[in-house]
Amino acid sequence: MNMDTLIQAALRARQNAHAPFSHFKVGAALEDAAGHIHTGCNVENASYGLTLCAERVAVFKAVSEGARQFRRAAVVADTDALTPPCGACRQILWEFCGDIELVMANLDGKSETFRLKDLLPRPFDASFL
Ligand code: THU
Repeated sequence: MNMDTLIQAALRARQNAHAPFSHFKVGAALEDAAGHIHTGCNVENASYGLTLCAERVAVFKAVSEGARQFRRAAVVADTDALTPPCGACRQILWEFCGDIELVMANLDGKSETFRLKDLLPRPFDASFL
């Protein structure tokens, strides 16, 4: 599977975003080691603080389905400057996915691919415990 397929899956997931407070819709997609795609969208909450980002929804959905190894991730939002994962999501992505490729994309077909290690240098994880 290529990155375009993953971006398309993130675009579709973005349509389910529940963002009545920020109106900022995000979609994410993760490819696991078996080639299956797990998607997520942001789900906001009236308390604001309980909001879940699209990336974490995708990771937790995948883990809850038994997936434990991942190849790549896509994040899609409607911004000219490509939307990166927030700090909390970088940490969760690192702990579950390691140094995967992560593509950021927008609705105009612009995209850029990064390694997670470059987005989260010197990460903390279970290897320190
Ligand atoms: N958000 C995501 O879902 N992923 C990101 O990478 C950035 C931010 C969401 C959280 C919140 O619902 C909205 O975007 C505005 O911050």
